[in-house]
Amino acid sequence: MTTEILNKLDTSFKKEVYEGLTSDLKYLSSKYIYDKKGDKLFQDIMAMPSYYLTDCEFEILSIHTAEIAKLFNESTKGFDLIELGAGDGKKTKVLLKHLVNNDYNFVYKPIDISQNAIDSLSATLADEISDLTVDAEKGEYFEVLDRLKKFDTRKKAIVVLGSNIGNLLHPRAIEFLTQLKDTMKEGDVLFMGFDQKKNPQTILEAYNDLEGVTEAFNKNLLHRINSELGGNFNPDNFKHWEVYDPETGTAKSFLVSLKAQSVKISAIDLEVSFKPWETIHTEISQKYDDETVHWLAKESGLKITTDFTDSNAYYKNYVFTR
Ligand code: AVJ
Repeated sequence: MTTEILNKLDTSFKKEVYEGLTSDLKYLSSKYIYDKKGDKLFQDIMAMPSYYLTDCEFEILSIHTAEIAKLFNESTKGFDLIELGAGDGKKTKVLLKHLVNNDYNFVYKPIDISQNAIDSLSATLADEISDLTVDAEKGEYFEVLDRLKKFDTRKKAIVVLGSNIGNLLHPRAIEFLTQLKDTMKEGDVLFMGFDQKKNPQTILEAYNDLEGVTEAFNKNLLHRINSELGGNFNPDNFKHWEVYDPETGTAKSFLVSLKAQSVKISAIDLEVSFKPWETIHTEISQKYDDETVHWLAKESGLKITTDFTDSNAYYKNYVFTR
């Protein structure tokens, strides 16, 4: 890239949009879906019965609350509870209420990519669990890893729910898990949710609802480019398309151009043309089995000490130590 172009790409959003839309196979990162509207659409997704992930993990956290609380705690000094990708905290609240009601000594540190999610979570927690000590922060996964290292005066429990790790293909997941491990000391625990391989139809339907909520969720990327980067995408000229490969366990989302069209994005001085049926890849949602999660752990220098599943065995939460 020339320096002239690089100068214009002064935020990671601009830079990644430029890179993704000038690439041979176009792509946009799903992490940019989450603004106020994107957060709301994701909440709508979580409320749909077809998006089984939330109910499954809610069931796991509700049934095993006391056992999980004990795994996190250290009897003399208590612990720091750090959650990456906290979102609206619906599932975590089950655990937080139990911890507060049983006088566990801990601080809750939720981290999320969306400032809007952080603000509304802080507000609802102050209202619903007023005795809870909250220290919320906005940030991306790979950004905040370094900052986790300073939580080293007592036991640390790192929580990543919602199968959020599924947005990363295995090599990046290993990188992420390895960096998490590097922030952990002996005795610290990592509690992470992994959506499991299952009937491919069930998975496809979770990402392909007829109401079009998932479509609107993905298209929020285009709306954000329009409003924040001066783009002129017409989202109606794109169709959401989902595929699930039962061999690899990878669900992939695309926005497919319905016609030949060209789009201008003024903030990055870019004009992009689309051929009919050309794709923008927007998200991957990886599905796992025990063998794969154990392999990821081994590659990352982590040990799995126990796991929890729901009554359908659709979803699993694993406990890792280093
Ligand atoms: C929040 C990344 C776990 O991939 O299942 C939901 C996001 N995308 N429906 C997922 C999502 C479409 C979700 N994660």
